[in-house]
Amino acid sequence: MNNTQNLKEKVIVITGGTSGLGKEAAKELAKTNATLVILARNMELASQVKEEIIKYSDNAKIEFIQSDLASLKSVKEAAEKIVSKYPKIDVLINNAGLFSSKRVLTEDGYESTFGVDYLAHFYLVLLLIEELKAGAPSRIINVSSNIHLFFGLKINDLQQEKRYRSQKAYGNAKAAMVFHTYELHKRLEGTGVTVNAFHPGHILTKMTTDSIPKIFIKLIRNYISPEKAAKALVYLAIDDEVANISGKYFQKFTMSESSKESYNVELQQQLWNKSLEMIQEKINGFQSKLD
Ligand SMILES: NC(=O)c1ccc[n+]([C@@H]2O[C@H](COP(=O)([O-])OP(=O)(O)OC[C@H]3O[C@@H](n4cnc5c(N)ncnc54)[C@H](OP(=O)(O)O)[C@@H]3O)[C@@H](O)[C@H]2O)c1
Repeated sequence: MNNTQNLKEKVIVITGGTSGLGKEAAKELAKTNATLVILARNMELASQVKEEIIKYSDNAKIEFIQSDLASLKSVKEAAEKIVSKYPKIDVLINNAGLFSSKRVLTEDGYESTFGVDYLAHFYLVLLLIEELKAGAPSRIINVSSNIHLFFGLKINDLQQEKRYRSQKAYGNAKAAMVFHTYELHKRLEGTGVTVNAFHPGHILTKMTTDSIPKIFIKLIRNYISPEKAAKALVYLAIDDEVANISGKYFQKFTMSESSKESYNVELQQQLWNKSLEMIQEKINGFQSKLD
């Protein structure tokens, strides 16, 4: 793997860098000397993590920007801060996520798993697209999950308004990340910006210990550490070997098949259109530069 190069001119934006996979990936990416811009909702935690990253990497170019992804307004404000300071972005890692046992709504009234894990990232990409194009060759990585193979996209119930089930809601959001990756790939053709979806494996993180009973965690033996999972994410973010690959689904380091339905181009377009409408309903006058 070729990820030890010095990337001191590069700017890498990552969501969910305060914990688990995102934090470990940020630590490794910081070692390349790149500038890291990390979106975080909790700035007290962010400041502790910043110290940890600097200590680990000896790289002080780490900036945390406050953003609660459960608020489209907050995503917009964070993106405006990024754009004002960084005219070029080399890598955007859409990693933040949650798993919720109850149906909770975001500030905008969307089901929170869908709103945070997917819709906020859909919006973030559109807000940063000019800077990603300016940084080309540049990359977007959408963190998804193999759960979408079992619980897929519910195009007619994206908000889980019928009976709420946490796995179903999580699968819906993670499937949306895969559909989005394929639609975005088509819309980015010729721009030099690549986009891939990524399943990191089953990781022992806060999300896992908060949502899965200890006994199951013990029984399921294939959990990996966030440090190990982060290696594949870092590979997708910066390794030369995958520089020209786009519109694919990776399970750890390996290019794989996603669910059969995720290749349905009509569904991909439908999700895109619905997502854009959801943003436009809440953000007055928003126009997508990819439509
Ligand atoms: N764990 C697994 O087995 C597994 C498997 C497949 C895919 N994934 C995916 O991997 C990604 C990382 O998850 P993880 O396992 O590393 O979980 P984690 O340790 O719980 O980290 C989740 C990150 O998302 C952030 N986040 C959650 N809600 C947010 C919000 N409203 N606004 C801003 N940030 C928010 C968290 O911030 P706070 O620190 O403030 O809470 C945290 O930094 C997720 O997309 C997850 O779905 C995980």
